[in-house]
Amino acid sequence: MYTLPGEYYHSEEIYGRELEQIFYQRWQLACREEQVAEPGDFLTVPVGDESIIVTRTRNRDIRAHFNVCRHRGTQICAEDEGHFTNDVIQCPYHAWQYDLDGALKGAPLMRDVPGFDKKDYSLHAAHVHLWGGFVFINLADSPAPFEEEMGALIGRFGDWRLPELRIAHHLPYRLKCNWKLIIQNYQECYHCPGVHPLLSDWTPFQNAVHDCLEGAVIGGFMTLTKKRGSMTMDGEAAAPPVCNVSGDDLQRVHYYSVFPNLLLTPHPDYVLYHLIRPVSVDEITSDCYFLLHPNILNDADRMQRFQSAVEFWDMTNKQDWAVCEQMQLGTRSRRFKRGRYAPQEDILYALDREVLKALGELD
Ligand code: FES
Ligand SMILES: [Fe+2]
Repeated sequence: MYTLPGEYYHSEEIYGRELEQIFYQRWQLACREEQVAEPGDFLTVPVGDESIIVTRTRNRDIRAHFNVCRHRGTQICAEDEGHFTNDVIQCPYHAWQYDLDGALKGAPLMRDVPGFDKKDYSLHAAHVHLWGGFVFINLADSPAPFEEEMGALIGRFGDWRLPELRIAHHLPYRLKCNWKLIIQNYQECYHCPGVHPLLSDWTPFQNAVHDCLEGAVIGGFMTLTKKRGSMTMDGEAAAPPVCNVSGDDLQRVHYYSVFPNLLLTPHPDYVLYHLIRPVSVDEITSDCYFLLHPNILNDADRMQRFQSAVEFWDMTNKQDWAVCEQMQLGTRSRRFKRGRYAPQEDILYALDREVLKALGELD
């Protein structure tokens, strides 16, 4: 099994095709439902060169609109998040107004323009699908059904009751590497003994099991050595088990990459996830979130204990980011063509194939 050639991390041309054929075509994570909790709340979500407004309507539906005015194409929302006053999305340029569903409601002095009908000038919609309290969007005209693309997610992690969980902490990062390197890094623990000594104590890399090796959702689990342990600074649980988690799952940390931009890591006692967004061919943002049940969130003593999980993952993330940035630099060398995967990295080969398939370079 050979790795991808170095150009897949550096070529503007390949990156452009990845945006077109992956990020503008596939289902991907936008945010959590709670981040647009009330009607009129909004987030602007960058997707490559696009910007998508995610908002909640009066009917409490979640909608996604391209952040582009139908008058002359001005970007409407400049803020990352906020609230639309009086349910009006207003362009800052000539004040065209849209409702939360995206319908054009006000267009000054356009009434007498021959053949102009407001109905023809709604904001362009992106598709929305909700799963596990996550808001997924798709920018394609006619996307494949979510259930088809993300089939392996359906029915999984039910015991964590993901829709009920809430964001307990957010660690934002920006790093200089190609988006695929971070996903590769997440999916193998061949690097763990050297890069993550503490993580390796709690979950030795020989314990990794890959149970899903095909398609958009791939991953497996690692077994915790400490009874009722977890990924924290002292290896003890950070909180009681999440909702209905029981049996083998009390001793497992699951690692799933949900192609192309979600890394989902249910622990026995909390859920961790990373939202990966490419900024350019060699730069990404990685937003690391922790989810807990509101019962824990509202308990100050338990939240203090929970900091041990945040500290653990901030340390571990930074260890990963350092090697990913070094790999970005090294793969630029004219001497690097492609490398060989170790048996523990079989899952990366599956990931590479998913990329190549999306680019039309594989049957
Ligand atoms: S460009 Fe938006 S109102 Fe003119
Ligand atoms: Fe790592």
